[in-house]
Amino acid sequence: MATKFSRLACGNLGGALSRQRHAQAECRTLLAEQLDAIRAAGTWKSERIITSKQAVGIDVQGSKGKILNFCANNYLGLSSHPEVIAAGKAALDEYGAGLSSVRFICGTQVIHKELEARISEFHGREDTILYASCFDANAGLFEVLLSPDDAVFSDELNHASIIDGIRLCKAKKFRYKHRDMQDLDQKLTEAQSCRTRLIVTDGVFSMDGNVAPLPQICELADKHNALVFVDECHATGFFGKTGRGTEEFFGFPNTRVDIINSTLGKALGGAAGGYTTGSKELVALLRQRARPYLFSNSLPPPVVACANKVMELLLKDSSLVRDVQANTSRFRTSMTDAGFIIAGDDHPICPVMLGDARLAAQFADLMLERGIYVVGFSYPVVPVGKARIRVQISAAHTTDDIDRTVAAFTAVGRQLGVID
Ligand SMILES: Cc1ncc(COP(=O)(O)O)c(C=O)c1O
Repeated sequence: MATKFSRLACGNLGGALSRQRHAQAECRTLLAEQLDAIRAAGTWKSERIITSKQAVGIDVQGSKGKILNFCANNYLGLSSHPEVIAAGKAALDEYGAGLSSVRFICGTQVIHKELEARISEFHGREDTILYASCFDANAGLFEVLLSPDDAVFSDELNHASIIDGIRLCKAKKFRYKHRDMQDLDQKLTEAQSCRTRLIVTDGVFSMDGNVAPLPQICELADKHNALVFVDECHATGFFGKTGRGTEEFFGFPNTRVDIINSTLGKALGGAAGGYTTGSKELVALLRQRARPYLFSNSLPPPVVACANKVMELLLKDSSLVRDVQANTSRFRTSMTDAGFIIAGDDHPICPVMLGDARLAAQFADLMLERGIYVVGFSYPVVPVGKARIRVQISAAHTTDDIDRTVAAFTAVGRQLGVID
């Protein structure tokens, strides 16, 4: 028999449940409205399901046969390199699946220290700190480095993770026009009384494949006694003569930039992870204060071992860098000759400019029917009216792969009236 107390409790519970159901229904409606708006704008991003390893030839659910992959950040083709896979497997046996801990409690193994040392050697820096991603490295840095007495100057097209990281810090914030050195100079002048001034830029901008004007940025840094931070996610391992990144591309020694953040999730094996590399004092302070480092799990051993193997390969030999550069030139030249507009500098990110979001999505679908996997990018990832297909070249593509893809672009481009 129900007591008075249990009847009361049931009554309250019933009320709470119906309120919860009401709140959930309202929330669903709000979410559904936003989803409909995205579909109506033609900017819906669907995910194709890959049923094989990441590679140049992949299996895609719903498509027959091997599909040529031209949209991964697998710039050096190392994501499924046999030695990288073997290193990951061996680490799983020796060091386990994961640490069940953050680094400072009991999450640091000898392989984490080895990888940090190798990355420092690769970049010619004093020390390196690993994170679970470069998103985390960008989220952690600015809050630690900058106080309300400081100022940060960020290119308006910097990556979302930089924008979010800067939001978290209390420094005075200046957003300069994309690669506009006059604007940067003016903003640095405005902030002369600030203690530390930090200029922040992507080395290579991932949507446009264009390069930050690093020589001019460094000149302005010298003029205004500022520090320079570069996000090298789309440069580390493959850009510049030996893959050291944007500094090397411009022929600078590897100490011109003060702080570099980069990812292990693209050219460097493609598993996951990010890092900050720079002075030993900065890295030591980040280990004490950076929230994504202090409050998030240690990188899993197989992931660390894969990146360690990639670093070992790159420190010995940079021939893959030459391959990706040669493939890039071949693709850019052939596509331009065919009548397409390819944005950006001489970088493996080759945005084929189409303008309209629906056209970009339709173009990508027709390319898949021809066995080529490319993706249309539209708002909000790129500005309205600047939709494109972002082709990404890898060292692992053969010249035949490149030529086949250019032929497919040409056929689809004619079919859709993009080229004559
Ligand atoms: C310029 C840039 N910075 C940071 C990131 C984040 O890297 P991660 O995937 O390691 O979080 C990306 C990834 O898309 C990027 O392109």
